[in-house]
Amino acid sequence: MDFLEIKDLQVYFPIKGGIFNRTVDHIKAVDGVSFNIEQGKTYGLVGESGSGKSTTGRAIIGLENITSGNVLFEGKDITSRRSKTKDVRKDIQMIFQDPYSSLNPRKRVLDVIAEPLRNFEKLSQQEEKKRVQELLEIVGLSPETILKYPHEFSGGQRQRIGVARAIALKPKLIIADEPVSALDVSVQAQVLNFMQDIQKELNLTYLFISHDLGIVKHMCDDIAIMYKGRYVEQGSKEDIFSNPQHIYTKRLIAAIPDINPRNRDKQFQFRSEVQKEFDESYDDYFDSEGLAYGLQHISDSHLVALPEKG
Ligand SMILES: Nc1ncnc2c1ncn2[C@@H]1O[C@H](COP(=O)(O)OP(=O)(O)OP(=O)(O)O)[C@@H](O)[C@H]1O
Ligand SMILES: [Mg+2]
Repeated sequence: MDFLEIKDLQVYFPIKGGIFNRTVDHIKAVDGVSFNIEQGKTYGLVGESGSGKSTTGRAIIGLENITSGNVLFEGKDITSRRSKTKDVRKDIQMIFQDPYSSLNPRKRVLDVIAEPLRNFEKLSQQEEKKRVQELLEIVGLSPETILKYPHEFSGGQRQRIGVARAIALKPKLIIADEPVSALDVSVQAQVLNFMQDIQKELNLTYLFISHDLGIVKHMCDDIAIMYKGRYVEQGSKEDIFSNPQHIYTKRLIAAIPDINPRNRDKQFQFRSEVQKEFDESYDDYFDSEGLAYGLQHISDSHLVALPEKG
């Protein structure tokens, strides 16, 4: 049994137009995406802006309507009751991209973190305070900050508050949508390492969404590359980084900045070679609408979007 299984997910947004404001077309934000995540693993979803990463995550947790496809969690089809049933709402949590806007500025830390608890557990004020203080300690913040407001914290600290809120109900799956991209690089590593630590402690499974392939390499066991609502490639971290097959994946990998300044010339040359290959072989990798083809297995773990042979 797979822990989380996504089957042929489609999320289309209607485009309205004309004087009757009827649906004239659709944005195919997610256009037939399938994947499995094993419990305790981190699955990375990468792609450029607008490729459909957030929509995929939001659809799984029930924040977007699903046009077609299925979400199976611990073997059960939860598609029609994603955000409705208590057990599902407890087991799957989300960490949002922007620690500045994702926390209600008028609520104290106590209320921000206690909110999910209040929906699910009947705790006395005393018990609730104790739980919130424990959670603050887990995420490395002083329990005394309980009465402060979000603006009194730094970005990294706020993201930790978001994590504390997400783990308050001991979820099994956390969908982390660009959890560190609003943070300074120096703080990013702290939050990421911390996410890895609590993952082990709580046996958490992550769906980790990011446009940063460098971060995904650091965090993830399996990786999917998304482009215009479709997968171009999926595989283990080794498959993707040691044996990338799709030209789009190769271009993304070439774009990861090399921190060593001595490699700058070499990297620049590598990038232009890959870009040249991208331009020359574009028609081999994308259909007439510029979309990725269906996925083909090239090994048990490794799938690549290629035209069917013959
Ligand atoms: N509520 C909505 N209504 C209409 N279109 C939407 C809606 N949400 C997303 N889209 C469109 O769906 C596509 C995918 O958006 P999505 O936010 O999933 O991309 P993303 O990969 O998360 O990008 P980013 O890296 O910028 O966060 C985009 O074209 C976007 O404009
Ligand atoms: Mg997004």
